[in-house]
Amino acid sequence: MNSQTQDKFTLINELARRRGFFWQSYEIYGGASGFVTYGFLGTRLKQNIEKKLRDLFVNKLGILEIEAPIIAPAKVFEASGHVEHFKEPMVECLKCGRRFRADHLLKEKARLSETEVEKLTLEELKNAIERNDVRCPECGGAFGEPKYFLTMFKTSIGPYSEAVGYGRPEAAQNIFVEFRRLYENAREKLPFGVMQIGHALRNEISPRQGLIRLREFTIVDVEFFFDPEEPNCYLLKDLENETLRLVLAESKLRGSEEIVEVTVKEALEKGFIKVPWQAVFMALAKKLLTELGVPAEKQRFIEKLPWERAHYSLQSFDQEVYVDRWGWVEVSGHAYRTDYDLKRHMQFSGVDTRVFKEYEKPVEIEKTVVKPLMAKLGPKFKGETQKIAEILAEMNPEEVEESFKKKGYYMLGEHKILPEYVEIVKCKVTEKGKHFIPHVVEPSFGLDRLVYVTLEYAYHVKDDRVILSFPRDIAPIQVGVYPLVSKDGLPEKAMQVYKMLIDEGFIAEYDEAGSIGRRYARADEAGIPLGITIDYETLKDDTVTIRDRDTWRQVRNKIAVLPELLHKYFRNKIDFEDLGEPLKE
Ligand code: ATP
Ligand code: GLY
Repeated sequence: MNSQTQDKFTLINELARRRGFFWQSYEIYGGASGFVTYGFLGTRLKQNIEKKLRDLFVNKLGILEIEAPIIAPAKVFEASGHVEHFKEPMVECLKCGRRFRADHLLKEKARLSETEVEKLTLEELKNAIERNDVRCPECGGAFGEPKYFLTMFKTSIGPYSEAVGYGRPEAAQNIFVEFRRLYENAREKLPFGVMQIGHALRNEISPRQGLIRLREFTIVDVEFFFDPEEPNCYLLKDLENETLRLVLAESKLRGSEEIVEVTVKEALEKGFIKVPWQAVFMALAKKLLTELGVPAEKQRFIEKLPWERAHYSLQSFDQEVYVDRWGWVEVSGHAYRTDYDLKRHMQFSGVDTRVFKEYEKPVEIEKTVVKPLMAKLGPKFKGETQKIAEILAEMNPEEVEESFKKKGYYMLGEHKILPEYVEIVKCKVTEKGKHFIPHVVEPSFGLDRLVYVTLEYAYHVKDDRVILSFPRDIAPIQVGVYPLVSKDGLPEKAMQVYKMLIDEGFIAEYDEAGSIGRRYARADEAGIPLGITIDYETLKDDTVTIRDRDTWRQVRNKIAVLPELLHKYFRNKIDFEDLGEPLKE
């Protein structure tokens, strides 16, 4: 295949390997699917995108950042619901033994939609595979019975094999389990947000999509905590007129992917998005992707149907970007996680995750509550009775009753609560304030997918030459410095310019190998926005030419003014034409 017929995915992966953006890890041992190593250029590109997210969320919005372990004791993911839910349907080829995601096969081979496949039971998946005669993509063999595969990596912690641990499939749980301390650090005020950027592990069944589906990838999870009665969404004023392209669940139910374009304000007024914080984070995510080079019309937010949503979510939108090979691909997920996670950790750990809000004046209300019977709890729980009673009193009476019905007891952390320890009663209470569990909206970005879409939208071909037109603030190398020829004192002068730029904090590269045309071509392919060429005139008047990667236009200016102008240029304060006098053609 030549470059005309190859799709961008193939071209980018080939370029990425050759120029050192990224490649499959462990190549010398045959490679391992779903793992990548980033080379020099890729590492910088990824770091620069990460920096953009950090600038946005931490520096501009004041969200607090944490860094916590990748491995967690099993309890954490039992409480979060992942042990029960983080599973995918898998089929095995009866001939070659290869395993695949049953739902993905049906989407790819039988052209079923996500909406259709996500709700199928194992039995229905089996029937759909047989009905559509879906066969092994590798050998054409038939498939056996589908079964669920837990996609968390399981390990044991320390030398005791019974101490089960899991690799985190999301960075969010580290934030929920530390909530008490983080809330104190945030001076016990809502709303506030916490972000974690780090590796996540998902034992994907058959990752064949490069950076898009990895078994170890970088996730950026922001958990934003607010009071559902007073969300106090102070960003709304600034962002209410931003537009969002939404594919709503109701359209999907009609089998349509119609896009409705609405402002943030309209999306909230019409009830398309349930909570303001979720809408503003979606607007910020759209801006971010636009700044990474993805045009607005190549982005959309698709709402998940109830059976497509993660177990913790009351409303979810996936931010998707259109890519050449795969169509619409999710780059970030926006979930309204409500109080699900904090409540589950409160139940499983027995540690209070509620916050207290004082009313302006005390109020009397009637409500159904779990009333702990101290005379029964006391003899059983001794010194812990008071604490257990307080937490029990805050548990949802319906959930407690349901557990009594189903299991005959209710688990509060390690403690088994029997029906005779409590009464479920309606009572009038005077309250000075209330304890409640904050609600959470979560924007969650996959950094590697952001790297991929950035590369795809930067990829251009001009006169048969590849240019990576990265937005200038994320280019892995900012400036190339070139002596026109490797003699007559030009390399020495070019080296001085290079050192000056490095001293000024620019990421520069010095290159004197090969013809100047070849060096420009190499630089364009690595996405270096500016080239500075030192020629014979430089020796006379200390001026250099500055070349633009995308238009190949050139301007000329004094070496002495470069630092100030380049700083402005890379902060997007001035354009290329402002860097000097145009060169006569
Ligand atoms: P998908 O449906 O594509 O498997 P998901 O819905 O499971 O994704 P989330 O759980 O919402 O994804 O994860 C948050 C983000 O992490 C996603 O928007 C995506 O950008 C990224 N992500 C998820 N799984 C992977 C993976 N296997 N490799 C790379 N990035 C991933
Ligand atoms: N955040 C992805 C999941 O846990 O399902």
